[in-house]
Amino acid sequence: MSLISVLVVLAVCSRVYGNPQGCSYDSSQLLHTCNARAWSLPLAFGTFSPQPQRILLREVDGELPNGTPTGPTFSGFSSISTASFDSNYAPELIIRCTSNGQLIITQAAFADMGWVEELTIEDCDILSLPVQVFSNFGNLNRFAIIGGSIDAMVGDSFTGMNVEKMTTVPDPRGEFVIKNSRLVSGGFAFGALFSQSNVTSVIIENANLKSIQTDMFYALQKMTYLSLSNNPFTYLPTDLFKGINSLTTVELYGIPWACTCTNIWPPSWLESNNITMNGDAVCGSPTAYENVKMSLYDKEQCPQPDACEKAGQTGFVVGSICMTILDIVNYALLFATFVLSLVALGLVIHTKRQVGSAKDSKQKGKPNAKGSGLRRSSTSWNKVDDAQNVPT
Ligand SMILES: *[C@@H]1O[C@H](CO)[C@@H](O)[C@H](O)[C@H]1NC(C)=O
Ligand SMILES: *[C@@H]1O[C@H](CO)[C@@H](O)[C@H](O)[C@H]1NC(C)=O
Repeated sequence: MSLISVLVVLAVCSRVYGNPQGCSYDSSQLLHTCNARAWSLPLAFGTFSPQPQRILLREVDGELPNGTPTGPTFSGFSSISTASFDSNYAPELIIRCTSNGQLIITQAAFADMGWVEELTIEDCDILSLPVQVFSNFGNLNRFAIIGGSIDAMVGDSFTGMNVEKMTTVPDPRGEFVIKNSRLVSGGFAFGALFSQSNVTSVIIENANLKSIQTDMFYALQKMTYLSLSNNPFTYLPTDLFKGINSLTTVELYGIPWACTCTNIWPPSWLESNNITMNGDAVCGSPTAYENVKMSLYDKEQCPQPDACEKAGQTGFVVGSICMTILDIVNYALLFATFVLSLVALGLVIHTKRQVGSAKDSKQKGKPNAKGSGLRRSSTSWNKVDDAQNVPT
């Protein structure tokens, strides 16, 4: 190939796949990658060719501006044609920071980004999640913050975005993820998940989650899967999963459980509510029970449920048996039957005896008669004797 033909091919390619400054296109992944060190904002929709469906912003460190003089970050995306998306890929935005890069975001930075169905923020130290910062995304199949940290959150940080299992994407998930990202405050803002009533899967893993409010998940009535693995909290509030009837699986690996009789409820509660618990139910403290199974702690340290509690019945405990009211009625009936049978048996015996002694007394008359006969005969003998003794 001559140099000229190479230049012609390059010229044709750059006309077909034009790009904003700092951006390049990988057709094998349908991915436009824009480098924050090289771009010149705004990233104008009209300068992307082909029309973007997946955008990766990389080497980000600082603000994604929402207006002049340095921005906005995106412009013209209200013209995007979602009808011409390739159905093999979810429309996606990935924001990836430089290592130790900070991220400053505001709601307006994402104007006209409602076409995005999967949003990922990677390796960013997010200084703040302001009120409704993600609301311009609307419905999302997957929301994920992976790596980095989250310095500040408010109760309405996630309000306005709706994470739900979307059927328009190749991999419907309805997934809310915060993973390997450090919650600097050690927890979520009060009520931060109340807006996510359509989420089906929540993953908050290795996120420095130290404190959990009792009602943190109560609004998540469609949640089937929850992972809280590898967090430093030491117990869960006792009513945490109460009323979340959709829940089928809870992952609790790597939790340093502070074993007390009230804290060790999750394994047995989850089991009795048909929820699979995956994870090592092992105490982190007290020292004497470090790395010892919760179930052993329970057996050795805690009052065990009596027979009625085990059977989930109301009644009276008799040794290791639970006597319910029904049992007691049954036993009473059985006892009454027994007593009646005894009485009946007694009557039968008594009657038989009476009949028997009546017969006896009739039969007693005969030997008496015989005796008197003998006596009579002896009298006869006497008479004979008497007769013999009669002097002739
Ligand atoms: C959840 O989904 C329903 C039905 O699609 C919708 O009406 C509702 O607004 C959604 N909830 C939120 C918080 O967006
Ligand atoms: C658990 O599942 C069993 C068997 O499917 C069922 O009988 C029982 O009612 C379920 N318990 C709860 C609390 O849902």
